[in-house]
Amino acid sequence: MSDPILDLPLLSETDRSWAEIASARLDLFLADHAGCEQQAALAALSLADRYLDDADLVDRLTSLAMEEIVHFRRVGAVLRSRSIYAGRKRSNPWVQALLKNIKDRREPHHKVDRLLVGALIEARSCERFTRLMEVTDDAEVKELLADLGPAEARHWRMFYDLAARELPQEDLRIRWQAWLEFERDLTAGGGRLPTVHG
Ligand SMILES: [Fe+2]
Ligand SMILES: [Fe+2]
Repeated sequence: MSDPILDLPLLSETDRSWAEIASARLDLFLADHAGCEQQAALAALSLADRYLDDADLVDRLTSLAMEEIVHFRRVGAVLRSRSIYAGRKRSNPWVQALLKNIKDRREPHHKVDRLLVGALIEARSCERFTRLMEVTDDAEVKELLADLGPAEARHWRMFYDLAARELPQEDLRIRWQAWLEFERDLTAGGGRLPTVHG
């Protein structure tokens, strides 16, 4: 899929039926969304901590983490105003499956794969926000997604650019293509839950 507005790299488009499922259960969507923003901040910090010797990476990922914290607060405020209890135990099998597919422990391949997975998570989140925005008639959620969507579009590109520094162009292209195909196949099995990546 090539989204002309957001210029996303993804190979597939989420079916409208997912957006209808999510818009029917915005309480569950928003609770999951808050968890995704929190996890995005933590994952960025964990990656920065792992590669502290890479000043450019640390600089950009810590800035990203701060942005994700702002997103988290914003979604949290919407949850509170709607008296939605976010719940304590949340899991994201889609993200877990991506992380599990990082098998190469050699560097710089491991670092590249972690960054490319970050790019995929941001890109798919952005795509899902856009799909939901097209369907929901909840003005507050529409505004929230319209504000956060462009940030996630910028984030996927940032992760990708960080990965691109590490490998020759052709090696990166092959690796990225393999990840895009993996993500497409993984996502094809979903679309039935009112969660960001469900
Ligand atoms: Fe975010
Ligand atoms: Fe993000």
